[in-house]
Amino acid sequence: MSKLETTYLGLALKNPLAASSSPLTDSVEGICALEDHGLAAVVLPSLFEEQLEAESAGLHADLERGSEGFAEATRFLPDLATYNLGPDRYLDLIRRARNRVAIPVIASLNGTTPGGWLEYARLIEQAGASALELNMYAIETDPERTGAEIEARQQDMVRLVRDAVTIPLSIKLSPFYSGLANMARGLDAAGADGLVLFNRFYQPDFDIVEREVVNALALSTPSELLPRLHWTAILSGRVGADLSITGGVHGAEDVVKCVMAGARLSFMASALLKHGAGYARSVLAQLDQWLDAHEYASVTEMCGCMGYTAVPDPAALERSNYMKVLGSYMAERETSV
Ligand SMILES: Cc1cc2nc3c(=O)[nH]c(=O)nc-3n(C[C@H](O)[C@H](O)[C@H](O)COP(=O)(O)O)c2cc1C
Repeated sequence: MSKLETTYLGLALKNPLAASSSPLTDSVEGICALEDHGLAAVVLPSLFEEQLEAESAGLHADLERGSEGFAEATRFLPDLATYNLGPDRYLDLIRRARNRVAIPVIASLNGTTPGGWLEYARLIEQAGASALELNMYAIETDPERTGAEIEARQQDMVRLVRDAVTIPLSIKLSPFYSGLANMARGLDAAGADGLVLFNRFYQPDFDIVEREVVNALALSTPSELLPRLHWTAILSGRVGADLSITGGVHGAEDVVKCVMAGARLSFMASALLKHGAGYARSVLAQLDQWLDAHEYASVTEMCGCMGYTAVPDPAALERSNYMKVLGSYMAERETSV
């Protein structure tokens, strides 16, 4: 067994670095390039509930005809028929990619409410996806809805998807729950095989002259890794689902940190978009060297060694660390004057 090997969602992986959903995974050629450069798995871009509901209601025709009501309702949406390939080409991509590459091909569905679109979970499985990632990106703006209701509804959704497919199921999680550790356990109980920490929330900016909301997608920075490491370490050893990290993984040491926190897999998108798929090769080579230099026999041996149940002082991951961190700034200032 190679020292970089790991398992995730019951899938055997050659190393702990995978490509998460992004335009790099939206074609067979892109997926082959990622495999050639050493990535252990790929997640396809998401199919969205909105586009699947539109497809099943035959609303594309209305959209094309410019039906006023529907056009208004979808004013803020991209072209649903072709977004991330559209449903038919998406299923075709799964089939073709599975024929061409040996690494697992994980499909992604993005939705938050029960509906006919869940039928696509079944179609995705039939098309041959190795696993399904469910992204429940939601901005909860209703002041009447309680956190408990939101969490219960999301767990119900996971149960529905779990019942629809037999392939492994992972959930791309939001960091915004009042009881994240409890929610993670709830998702686990609802049938999630894996939890992906965390969704990146794309925050609109304001154009203060035109008074318009401005949407722009900036690639991540390495500092975004820290809350993911923290929460992975908190959950490590305390939920049954496999943990993985997406967000701020930019280099080999980031992967080491993810593994130590308890992640079986680290996902990359921004760094690959920035440097190209070939960047993965140098990250993996550096990871290999790092293990040798620090005398770790394998990634598996290292996994979770900084997790809540493994560290001698879990308080370092809890509230008591807060005052210490604030105090460390003053101590540093005193030594520098
Ligand atoms: C251009 C772009 C497109 C993305 N599309 C999706 C998507 O369709 N579904 C999804 O779950 N995440 C999507 N993501 C989020 C990434 O998969 C990833 O979770 C996020 O960028 C954080 O990882 P990073 O710091 O390595 O970029 C996208 C990211 C980028 C930059």
